[in-house]
Amino acid sequence: MNAPLPSDPLDAHTTRRAADRPPAVEVLSAEKIFANGTRALAPIDLTIAEGEFLTLIGPSGCGKSTLLKLIANLIQPSDGRILWWRGDFGQVGQGGRGLAFVFQEPTLMPWARVDANVRLPLDLADVPRGKADPRVSDALARVGLSAFARHFPRQLSGGMKMRVSIARALATDPNLLLMDEPFGALDEFTRNKLDDDLVKLWWERKLTTVFVTHSIYEAVFLSTRIVVLAANPGRIFRTMTIDEPQPRSQDFRDSARFAAYCRELSTWLAEASLPSASGVTP
Ligand SMILES: Nc1ncnc2c1ncn2[C@@H]1O[C@H](COP(=O)(O)OP(=O)(O)OP(=O)(O)O)[C@@H](O)[C@H]1O
Ligand SMILES: [Mg+2]
Repeated sequence: MNAPLPSDPLDAHTTRRAADRPPAVEVLSAEKIFANGTRALAPIDLTIAEGEFLTLIGPSGCGKSTLLKLIANLIQPSDGRILWWRGDFGQVGQGGRGLAFVFQEPTLMPWARVDANVRLPLDLADVPRGKADPRVSDALARVGLSAFARHFPRQLSGGMKMRVSIARALATDPNLLLMDEPFGALDEFTRNKLDDDLVKLWWERKLTTVFVTHSIYEAVFLSTRIVVLAANPGRIFRTMTIDEPQPRSQDFRDSARFAAYCRELSTWLAEASLPSASGVTP
């Protein structure tokens, strides 16, 4: 798209500018070199404002999952820092700031019914059943699976299993939702449906979300901002703001603006995948 890109990802639907909202996550010159010497990420600087839906996209191996795991505190940066709500993870964790991680595989316990799968993180946190059960019911209702609470995972379709996985994340009432290619294994129709529902969930809660995908269409449809990464070492190549009304629906997918964003993003991805782009260290 040749028109200048707007600078504020949430201008279209909030009264508070992104710059005025507190940062949820600050990645401060965070770098990742694995023990075997692989330099997965060059120093990355990225601020994610509260309520943003930020998507990471880029060629395979460019460090999307690594960055997401750094943000989740699942792995530590080799250098640099990550701040959550301007504090260290331990501090904000104690202050009630929670995060939930949704992986590409739904990773459900096959022997447990749907409601028990969704309750797992609450059981692990010793939340009493009296408090946990309403949260499980609410989370299942949000993903449209109330009628399947007593089913086993083997009785569900792939899309329904993914919904259970999302319900399990929502049941913990997180402030930060991290999703690594959650719908990558689904057919396009099911993926679109889940994307529609995810937009609504995000919009209801204004839940700060960091999402990883390989799909240009999904990235444009869902995101307030898209970060394109290049590889070797992983680094931010370009950032695109999708300043469109929320919550989005099929109308946006059918619009000329959607097509224009997709074309532009496709060009950027092709550039980010060039060996010349990959070989430059910032
Ligand atoms: N535990 C690890 N030890 C060593 N190298 C790793 C480890 N995890 C990832 N890497 C390497 O770091 C780089 C980035 O990997 P990462 O999984 O973050 O990429 P990605 O962008 O998520 O790729 P994909 O799109 O295929 O999921 C790759 O070169 C990968 O081989
Ligand atoms: Mg990955």
